[in-house]
Amino acid sequence: MCNLKSDHVCSQRIKMERIAAFLCALIFVTAKGIIDLVANEPLLKLQLPGIRHLKSGKVREIFDLGDSLLMVATDRISAFDCVMPNGIPRKGEVLTQISHFWFQRFAAMIPNHLLARADDPLPAMLQPYQALLERRSMIVKKAQPLAIECVVRGYLAGSAWHEYFNAQTVCGIKLPDDLMEASELPEPIFTPATKAQSGHDENISFKRAEQIVGVDLARQARDASLKLYANARRYARDRGIIIADTKFEFGMFAGQMILIDEVLTPDSSRFWPADRYEPGQSQPSFDKQFVRDYLETLAWNKTPPAPPLPPDVVQKTQEKYFEAYTRLTGRSL
Ligand SMILES: Nc1ncnc2c1ncn2[C@@H]1O[C@H](COP(=O)(O)OP(=O)(O)OP(=O)(O)O)[C@@H](O)[C@H]1O
Ligand SMILES: [Mg+2]
Repeated sequence: MCNLKSDHVCSQRIKMERIAAFLCALIFVTAKGIIDLVANEPLLKLQLPGIRHLKSGKVREIFDLGDSLLMVATDRISAFDCVMPNGIPRKGEVLTQISHFWFQRFAAMIPNHLLARADDPLPAMLQPYQALLERRSMIVKKAQPLAIECVVRGYLAGSAWHEYFNAQTVCGIKLPDDLMEASELPEPIFTPATKAQSGHDENISFKRAEQIVGVDLARQARDASLKLYANARRYARDRGIIIADTKFEFGMFAGQMILIDEVLTPDSSRFWPADRYEPGQSQPSFDKQFVRDYLETLAWNKTPPAPPLPPDVVQKTQEKYFEAYTRLTGRSL
């Protein structure tokens, strides 16, 4: 029981306890905020001391492991072939895990460049970098990439729509005259492009692709691309995603053509929500179309340096990548 004097001490103690509880809550909220912030920090650059860096792509860092390559997908995002100054947190994980998913699905259809499965432990020399590399890296065969990008289109979008609008052709292929933006094509078409070292890739005719890589390889790459696209498109459609188009890369390894790079990710494909599909206009999507649409609102001339993406564009883009991953794989990140 508190008497008059101890009443005062009691209320002081209660006050102190409340302040302590408040401070604890504050520390907890701040610490959680900092942890969330760090976890949500995009990985834009990467150095692995002791591991030989081979090259940087727009999105990936490639390291030489001797007999194999280590490909690490950063969180960088490019649009109109320019890398944005800020990234999309965890995007590299999404790209790598979606690629693993398709490599596994296609394993019986075509050999690929993977030397380790998604959940295999890293080799000893990479163990110190486990936290950094986990879920965003692949150990792959050293292939000789074909000098063409193997694009398959099932719907009319992007540069194909622009070419069709002006000339009724796509990469020189004549199409029916009643198509609209985002129309489904009568059948999927193979529309190769050059692999530009810098700047924009350029659409080319199949004849030109044959000249670049040779008739036999061009045909093999075309047939494989159309077969993989048809398979993936059926699978994705059942999960509410239209794969409007995609780009495959193939490489030569031990005299054989194999599937390399990333496969059917939101970076290399246009993914549209099937329930909102409405031809005649640009489609909502689970890929970087959202970033492209934002950039189109600016007076930017699509040459470096690219403008920074505002936080809401970063967040919405991240949500779209996550949703693509979940819909396709049935798992959440
Ligand atoms: N197994 C492999 N062996 C050799 N090179 C590979 C392999 N898989 C992918 N690559 C190459 O690694 C690079 C991947 O990096 P990234 O995706 O960041 O490049 P990019 O910006 O798309 O540019 P690029 O036009 O060169 O593809 C590509 O150049 C691709 O051709
Ligand atoms: Mg690439």
